[in-house]
Amino acid sequence: MTDQGPLLIRGGKVVNDDRIFDADVFVDKGIIQAVGPDLAVPEGAFVIDAAGKYVMPGGIDTHTHMQLPFMGTAAIDDFYWGTRAALAGGTTMIIDFVLPQRGESLLDAYSKWRNWADEKVCCDYGFHVGVTWWSEQVKQEMAELVKDKGVNSFKMFMAYKDTWQLLDEDLLKAFTQCKAIGALAQVHAENGDVIKEMGNRMLAAGITGPEGHALCRPEEVEAEATNRACVLANQVGCPLYIVHVMSRAAADVVSAKRRQGHVVYGEPVAAGLGTDGTHYWSTCWRHAAAHVMGPPLRPDPSTPAYLMDMLANNDLQCTGTDNCTFTSEQKALGKGDFTKIPNGVNGVEDRMSIIWERGVCSGKMDPRRFVAVTSTSAAKIFNIYPRKGVIAVGSDADLIVWNGETSRVISASTHHQRCDFNVFEGQTVRGVAEWVVSRGRVCVRQGQVEAVRAAGRFVPTPGYSPEVYLRVQQRDKTRTPHAVDRSES
Ligand code: URP
Ligand code: ZN
Ligand code: ZN
Ligand code: ZN
Repeated sequence: MTDQGPLLIRGGKVVNDDRIFDADVFVDKGIIQAVGPDLAVPEGAFVIDAAGKYVMPGGIDTHTHMQLPFMGTAAIDDFYWGTRAALAGGTTMIIDFVLPQRGESLLDAYSKWRNWADEKVCCDYGFHVGVTWWSEQVKQEMAELVKDKGVNSFKMFMAYKDTWQLLDEDLLKAFTQCKAIGALAQVHAENGDVIKEMGNRMLAAGITGPEGHALCRPEEVEAEATNRACVLANQVGCPLYIVHVMSRAAADVVSAKRRQGHVVYGEPVAAGLGTDGTHYWSTCWRHAAAHVMGPPLRPDPSTPAYLMDMLANNDLQCTGTDNCTFTSEQKALGKGDFTKIPNGVNGVEDRMSIIWERGVCSGKMDPRRFVAVTSTSAAKIFNIYPRKGVIAVGSDADLIVWNGETSRVISASTHHQRCDFNVFEGQTVRGVAEWVVSRGRVCVRQGQVEAVRAAGRFVPTPGYSPEVYLRVQQRDKTRTPHAVDRSES
């Protein structure tokens, strides 16, 4: 079945971020039409038996890089294979990054990415746009992207010196503009100057393998940039979202800033929650290089559990994957020099299972929090709630029938991604998406993927997300500094 008449998902436990309840879900024309007990089977409806299973909003992966041109090559999972793999794992929407080259028009890059995606995507998608350089033109294009193009978030890089890195002066300008146009500022928080210097020192000392990638950018390099980004954004009253929080130290900064009242969000990614940086010391170069991403996985093996605790307790809010995959052959571009290993790992297919196994099965979070961190919080922050992120009448019919007991063993030999390595290889995880429905279309049927090329749609993310901006706007009214009146003295 590819097109799709009405669907009745019967007898499951519906999970939203606020409650779990027994209900049937009726879907037609891509929309959830009814949610309730014992719904009658409408004429011609296809019935999915969800007894004993959870029925949950499809996952939203807040951070992917399908077919990204990067470090002399391009990510191997394109918008077709990447979104197909997403669906296989229970994710029904991705938010990918448009990343212009220095000097390139943001609008041109946006159009290029839209063309790439529209002809391939199997599930819905949205965009963040990178502010990889600064000028008056960039400033104006940011405003146009929010007003007319459905973009409400911009990523600034504090790393990748000489390519995408912005210095503090331009970061401040970008944060100021985000605030002025109702957008959410995002940062890749690592100190690019330190990385460059320490990378050169590693190479000079004869450390050319993937361990050098971790050694030249220890946790404090991420924590320093995270702190600096929080301070700069807060000074101009701009809400901030730290992408790929990879270390205990950086997560601690996000948590502390939230407690100080900053409007800041933190996003761990599947790889950081599901594996660690000890792999960089593998004697197998291919194995070690396959884990290279920035910021790196952390050698401290307690990191994944720590990040999961932070996520469970709302110190961190959403989960992405930073899915940016390269084959072993592509990774080999950095064979004699770790600084040339294309940065990126898989995750888009396995994120949901990793969080279910390590978050829910471990008892750190219940299924409602699972839904929050895999879907609802992203929908709220990026202003597409309740269209996405909830099972409710009128919402898009993006949902999954989730078997929380069945287990599977993750492997590159069985995954749906095009990369030939999986950073979770050999892990047994509970939590399997038996049925996946994307805007009313069955895309996974009893575990079999039936994704359709170009069936997904671009989902605009409007500016001034209430989740993000209501507090910010109120502060603007009440926290304006005033000059002291000295007219009497
Ligand atoms: O290693 C990574 N993270 N690759 C993708 C680019 C980025 O910085 O997100
Ligand atoms: Zn990044
Ligand atoms: Zn090996
Ligand atoms: Zn990324």
